[in-house]
Amino acid sequence: MTYVKYTPDVEVIQPHEAEQVEKIVDMMHAQHVKTFDKLRHAVRDAHAKQHGTVVGTLIIPSLPEHLAQGLFAKPCEYPVVIRFSSAPGTLKDDSVPSPHGMAIKVIGVEGQKLLLEHADAVTQDFLLVSMPVIPFGTVEKYLEMQKFIALQENASEQAEKAFGLLAKGGKKALDLLGISNPVLDGLGIENEYLLGQTFHSMAALRFGDYIAKLSAAPLSPEVKALTGKAIDTKHKPSAQRDAVVDFFHKQGAEYELRAQLCTDLAKMPIEDGSILWEETLSPHQPIGKIIIPAQEAYSPARRVFSDDKLSFNPWHCLPEHQPLGSIMRVRKQAYASSTDFRHAMNAQPKIEPTSIDEIPD
Ligand code: HEM
Repeated sequence: MTYVKYTPDVEVIQPHEAEQVEKIVDMMHAQHVKTFDKLRHAVRDAHAKQHGTVVGTLIIPSLPEHLAQGLFAKPCEYPVVIRFSSAPGTLKDDSVPSPHGMAIKVIGVEGQKLLLEHADAVTQDFLLVSMPVIPFGTVEKYLEMQKFIALQENASEQAEKAFGLLAKGGKKALDLLGISNPVLDGLGIENEYLLGQTFHSMAALRFGDYIAKLSAAPLSPEVKALTGKAIDTKHKPSAQRDAVVDFFHKQGAEYELRAQLCTDLAKMPIEDGSILWEETLSPHQPIGKIIIPAQEAYSPARRVFSDDKLSFNPWHCLPEHQPLGSIMRVRKQAYASSTDFRHAMNAQPKIEPTSIDEIPD
């Protein structure tokens, strides 16, 4: 198989991109301020609701040349901290289905990081969501979606509906937003246990000499058993958190981290994150294992540390893992705006851990 080599010109700045980015970030911030006023606490502008935070180990084996790239260049073990979440920027009852997030912070990674803030920190973040593609895969489409939501009289209700329908399969939500994406039609997800889901970078990133989308898939039998399993949320507004806490009281979990390398820039585009990279063009290849032991996933100290002191950011990465494409570029400003606001309003320090021992039990 021939893999496309990374060169800076695989990215193409889109027409009107700078002004569209500015509009997106301004609109998101306006919503963020409203949510703060409602809650009198600053939550994340996306993925506000945490379902548990766990510590574990990323084990990188000896890999063939095309996979032995960036962080994965040599066999190594790193501690990781992982925050599970739901996508909306406010706290919804878990009966409203939503895409879920798996934010991974790898600790002990030497080398300058792309984001200037904390460039010397020994952490590297990977942000994954329980959908293979991002339906609003360009800045232009993302702005359309944002405008649509802002136009609604009751913005949060509409956003709730859109997120819920998206998790259920996408078609109706996308029709609602005037955007169609056949890839999501087949997903047909009801409201399922998040620990059984596969989490994806959705858009592309640099993978050393190559370009990839990353994903983490359930590996141990206990998490595999939850794949596609409906979760009972009736009268249980925190059903997902309760399930995560209960799970890790009883046992640990293993996930396989995988890279899907780009083999064809036309069929596997960088600039539109809504297009699925077909497995027939390039398989998801294992690059490491994440091993999470049994533990307390939502102690008060850990919740506060994870929600209010930590930030996960796709741009907090080695240059070898630079996010690629317009939907990734807008994230640079969007995450900075969200994290700056919430740390300032909650009067909390921004912490990049230097050791796993800093994560409270
Ligand atoms: C392209 C694929 C994307 C993935 C895989 C993704 C994933 C995630 C995840 C997992 C989190 C939770 C991080 C945590 O637990 O702290 C998050 C947070 C966030 N996302 Fe995304 N996201 C994507 C695209 C976007 C886009 C396009 C925007 C905005 C234009 C956006 C804005 C945000 C914001 C503002 C936060 C909260 C940041 C903070 O306050 O720390 N994301 N994202």
